Amino acid sequence: MATKKTNRKPAAASKSAKKSVKKSAQKSRKKPAKSVAARAAGSPALPRPSAKPWGKAGRALDGVRILDFTHVQAGPTCTQLLAYMGADCIKVERPGAGDITRGQLRDVKGADSLYFTMLNGNKRSITIDSKHPKGREILDRLIKHCDVLVENFGPGTLDRMGLTWEHIRKLNPRMIVASVKGFGPGPYEDCKVYENVAQCAGGAASTTGFREGPPLVTGAQIGDSGTGLHLAFGIVSALYQRLRTGRGQRVLCAMQDGVLNLARVKLRDQQRLKHGPLTEYSQHGEGVPFGQAVPRAGNDSGGGQPGWILKCKGWETDPDAYTYFITQAPIWGAICDLIGKPDWKTDPDYATPPARLPRLKHIFATIEEWTKTKTKFEVMEICNGHDIPVGPILSMKEIAEEKSLRDTGTVVEVDHPTRGKYLTVGNPVKMSDSITEVKRSPLLGEHTEEILGKVLGYTAKEIAEIKASGAIAPPEKPAKAEAA
Ligand code: COA
Repeated sequence: MATKKTNRKPAAASKSAKKSVKKSAQKSRKKPAKSVAARAAGSPALPRPSAKPWGKAGRALDGVRILDFTHVQAGPTCTQLLAYMGADCIKVERPGAGDITRGQLRDVKGADSLYFTMLNGNKRSITIDSKHPKGREILDRLIKHCDVLVENFGPGTLDRMGLTWEHIRKLNPRMIVASVKGFGPGPYEDCKVYENVAQCAGGAASTTGFREGPPLVTGAQIGDSGTGLHLAFGIVSALYQRLRTGRGQRVLCAMQDGVLNLARVKLRDQQRLKHGPLTEYSQHGEGVPFGQAVPRAGNDSGGGQPGWILKCKGWETDPDAYTYFITQAPIWGAICDLIGKPDWKTDPDYATPPARLPRLKHIFATIEEWTKTKTKFEVMEICNGHDIPVGPILSMKEIAEEKSLRDTGTVVEVDHPTRGKYLTVGNPVKMSDSITEVKRSPLLGEHTEEILGKVLGYTAKEIAEIKASGAIAPPEKPAKAEAA
């Protein structure tokens, strides 16, 4: 992997943080702290605006170094985002084995799986046995040289490694220790958790699917990747706070909490239930009474604008020949004209949103008679010409081949030395002055020597000793005796 040379002083942001702390301490004796905008207006605390062209002044998180102790999906998705933003992400893996996903769902024999490669781009890999005394020593040195430690081990694992918060803080008081766990403090805090467990415990599964069917989990990984995203936000916030306080902190995102945050509209509806039926749910129009808890709402829109998934031309053979159709009130007239029901514009049973609510099933069935005569892309083109919000159901095949997603860098093809070319999802966040260049994932231990030498300052002799100790590579298997 073409990585940038990172032979910098440890914890590069520390100088500016010290200055900032001194300044903020002086300020706090005088006046209440000013807003960032106010300080930017004339304070020397912020550098002068760069004269470099946009996109040429480095990346947002340049100078931030991450000890990436993550595995599987929830943690790696967080650190990959930080690496996309420019952080130097050093992934610590178990010698000989690495992140378990390297070998899971393998599609190319002997090569890292897509499961791994698509979650670990732009990182460097070092192998360290955290249970080996020398390995622990290297980890301690790494802690001194990093700004953030990110982990998503099972509860208590980091402590069992000897890497307690107290120990880390003693080594590096500026260190931010960020963790994903399945649950926050409480009855389930010691449980191990995977994606679908979090979807179930966070309220998503109970509110997804059809009323008549069982709870459903979604394909979008809201438990793992969703929590990773939340954690990344926590880390960046902690880095910002550290500029003022000069000290690190612990950042925790429980997967249950992350999912609930994404399902907050359903907690909204739970409370609305006390005051009467949820009139925008199609169940209301169908005369089905509500129970004690928010029900599954099928493809109801979940907002104030009724919507549903409708068949399009070809639906009989193509499982994705569907469109989402939203009957937004201001363009109701346009919808009526389009589907050949101009009389609905003035008919009191259809003319107003409240009048339409009990008739949504019939209304969508009528609109579907029209959408079935068009492909999902024709529906998109025609409806958008009238400002009617619709969404074609795009298959992963269509998304992988979509030119505009390639053009924006949302879908990126990268080359890998053992598996060849593969597609990955680039940075979904686009910034005008921090341009992401997506790089392939590292091979297991690809950067071990580079990091030991250039980041941690070990000499060649010391590196040789470390190698011989078995702390960074599994002990060599004795050669088999040749058959007589
Ligand atoms: N060297 C030596 N040992 C290492 C190591 C290294 N570099 N890296 C990890 N290990 C060891 C740990 O010390 C631990 O051993 P221990 O149990 O003897 O203390 C073990 O590997 C990892 O344990 P754990 O994290 O519990 O892995 P698991 O495979 O049993 O469980 C999860 C996997 C995901 C269920 C669990 O990690 C978890 O609940 N994580 C938090 C929630 C989460 O992120 N879930 C989503 C995953 S996508």
